Order: sequence, then structure tokens, then C-alpha cells
Amino acid sequence: MKKSQIILLLLAVGLLIIVGSVAKLGSDTAPEIQVSDEKAVVTKNDLREEFGQAYQKDITPSGTIVEVDMTASEGEIEIFEGKKTQVWNYNGIVPGPELRIDLGDTLKVNFTNNLPEPTTIHWHGVRVPNAMDGVPGVNQDPIEPGESFVYEFTPKDAGTFWFHPHVRGTEQVERGLFGTLIVEDDYVKQYDQDIVWVLDDWKLTDEYQVNPNFVTTGELMHDGRWGNVIAVNASLNEQIVARPGERFLLRMVNASNGRVYQPSFDGLNATIVSVDGMYLREPLPASVFQLAPGNRMDVDITIPDDPTSEVFSINDLFTRSTNKLGTIVTQGEPITTPSFVIKTNPDIPHWDEAGEITSDKTYRLNAVRGGEYGIQWTINDKAYPDYDPFEFAYDEFNKIEFINESGRLHPMHLHGQFFKVISRNGDPVDEPFFRDTILVGPKETITIGVVPMDKGHWVQHCHILEHAEAGMMTVVEVK
Ligand code: C2O
Ligand code: CU
Repeated sequence: MKKSQIILLLLAVGLLIIVGSVAKLGSDTAPEIQVSDEKAVVTKNDLREEFGQAYQKDITPSGTIVEVDMTASEGEIEIFEGKKTQVWNYNGIVPGPELRIDLGDTLKVNFTNNLPEPTTIHWHGVRVPNAMDGVPGVNQDPIEPGESFVYEFTPKDAGTFWFHPHVRGTEQVERGLFGTLIVEDDYVKQYDQDIVWVLDDWKLTDEYQVNPNFVTTGELMHDGRWGNVIAVNASLNEQIVARPGERFLLRMVNASNGRVYQPSFDGLNATIVSVDGMYLREPLPASVFQLAPGNRMDVDITIPDDPTSEVFSINDLFTRSTNKLGTIVTQGEPITTPSFVIKTNPDIPHWDEAGEITSDKTYRLNAVRGGEYGIQWTINDKAYPDYDPFEFAYDEFNKIEFINESGRLHPMHLHGQFFKVISRNGDPVDEPFFRDTILVGPKETITIGVVPMDKGHWVQHCHILEHAEAGMMTVVEVK
């Protein structure tokens, strides 16, 4: 900007201030007008009220208990045909079991650790009793090799959730320890096919083995560990077979340590039904959602009656080069598309005025040199287990601000509650859905609103597992 332009700008600003104060003076002489014009200042109570029962505080268990035995152990799978890859797995398979229960059912998992090191299970996104949340040092003791632990809880929400260890996730999740928990309600039973796709990238050696160098400097300096092989349900050719006109539900889970996906659904009628396990206020077209590590997205897909091709590819557009995720193959006689309406949650608050409220807590995200790995990822200059304690007010509106001072990505995940994005870089945002993980971009500032419904100590961390391992984690207490 030239000097003369700066002077002009200053003049303009000055003029605005003068005009503003004259207007103010004017209104002083007419107080009755001023009163009727004045916008009421929004309070936290207003925002709490607007939340209403957007998600319920509790659930009445139906009395049905679904009991599952689960073991974590070493094993092998074939990602590439004819090539064995050594993995760690739940019940011998990768992804681990797809647990399906009805809303109201109690899940009881008799878990045994047959790994060479301690582990735990965290139920990502599920509002569980605090002692079932699986974080060592916060919710439970690590489960030692050869030991067992019983996880038992009644999920309060229907939706797509997943589970993974919360001990050295950088290695344990990367080696294949993850599975899904699907909590069904009547709505999803209307779909002919209800399919789960777990997206994960593997960093494999030339011998098709999981690269054993974990938490490298390169991974820490960038957005965690990004693999050289992208697989869906540990397959390189995941396929859905559907008939022309068929309508099905595709649940996508990002179980990667660091990679973000942006799935595209060219040629298909694809609509987002839920994000992070929760229904939307209004359905959104798919292909606009960035699925960061931890995120889920359920998509309602309809094959055209008269498909232009027999094969549709679902691709990932997040990176400069397009990655193939999987395909849908149309086969058989056309069927009439079922016309049921996508389920929504009209009670999701807009919180349009939440910008007027000051944040209860600011978390600055950054990195420093030092620590076990040479680089530490910090929240307010502290690397976990060091942290800046914070209390959330139970059943009230709380506002949190994330300031990403770094140039990397940080998908911030809060255990035990859902939240809603309020602003990005100061601009109000009304995403029509709750989340449990929000991708904070380089140098970006994001504020979120949360009404905590579950008491106790919950961790909050970056879901790029290398960043979390190197310190980017903190604890909040809901009380
Ligand atoms: Cu999937 Cu602590 O996270
Ligand atoms: Cu991060």
C-alpha cells in the first residue's frame, strides 16, 4: 500500500468513527427509539436453551445385553494378493469385528490382551461412563499382556462409532487394531444394504510389512504418518454390488493415523445422513466433507435407474493426486428406489449469536523442540502428560477456541461429548451437525460450543496419532 493510500484509509476510518459517534449522539436524544432498536445480548443460558434436548442426556437400557469376547493379538493378513503382512488385530481380523447392536442394548465386551505390550480400548465417539473410556492414567489402568478387562456400557446415540487402543496408538492402530461399533435405530433398518468402509493407509516396506519405524521426525514435522498404500477394509479392491435404482447406506470411518480423505461420489446420488455418528439438521450433499482421522460420515447413496456406467469409483480428492478408495458395481435387474425420507435432527442448534460470547478456554496449538522424539506438539506450550487443567460446566453452554499457531493439520478430538463449530477465523459458521473431531487447518482459529452431558475426566487431543504421542493432548473435567 502506498503512503497516500494509507492516509486515505485512515481518513475513511476516522470519518466512520465520527459518523458513528454522531449517530450515537443522535440516539441519546431519543432514548425510546434506542431501546427498541437495541439487540439483546445473547447469554450462555440462551444458548443452553437453544440446545434443548438436541441430544439426550441419558438412555433407558432395553435390558438386552450383547456379550462379545474380544482378543487383541498378533496375526497376519493379505493386503496384496499372495503377500502376508504381519499385523496386530482384534479377533484375528483387520478391521476388527463390526459390532452391531440396537439403540438401548448394553454392550459387554470381555477383552483379553494377547499383545506383547499393554493396551486399552477406547470407544471413539460413544458417550460411555467415564470409567469405560479407555485412557490409561485418566480412566483406567493399562491392560497388561495376558490380562483381561470387561467393557460394559449402553450407548446413548444411534450411529457409526469405532474403537481402537489408547496406548501407543501410533503403533497399535497402525498395525491394525481398530474395529467398528454400529448402533442401529429403526431408521437404518430401511436400507437394503448397510455397509461399513474403514479407510486406512498403510506404510509398508518393500517386503509388504508395516514399516517398523514409528513416530519419526518426518512424521512429526508433517501431518503424522501417511502411508504408501490406501486400503478400504484392508482391501485394495473393495467393492459394493448394487442393482440399478438401489439405495443403500455407506458408513465411512477414517482409522488412519494421519491421512485426511475427501471422498467423491461422481455419477451417484449421494447425501450425508450423519457425521460422527449423529444425524444432521438437514441432509448435505456428499463430496464436500473432509474426513479427518477419527471422523465418520454416513452416506445415503442411490444408483441411478439407468446408470451411465456399470462401475462407479469412489475417490479421495484431498491430496493433489486422486486416490481410488473403492468401487460400486451395478448388476442385475433395476429396482424401484425406496422413497423414505432421510432422518434428521431438527433440534441441532444454530448458535448464530454464539460469537458474542467470550471463549471459556483458548487452546493454542504449536510445536517445540525437545522431548523423547526431538519434537513436542504442545497445547498452550505444554506437552502431555503436562497440561493446563480446565473444567467444563456440566449441562451448560461452554465455548472453546483452538488457535493453530503451527503450519500443520490438527484434527482435534474431544472424548465423551459432541460439539458444534461456531466460527472459523472469526467468521460465524453454522454446520448443521455435531462432531467429535474437527480438523483445524494451518494457522486457523476455530471456536466450538459444547453442552457436556457426561461427568468426569475426558481427554482432548489431536487425532493425528503421532502429534498426540508427542504431547498434543490435554484433559478436561466435566463437573
Ligand atoms: Cu479416537 Cu482419543 O481417540
Ligand atoms: Cu495434530
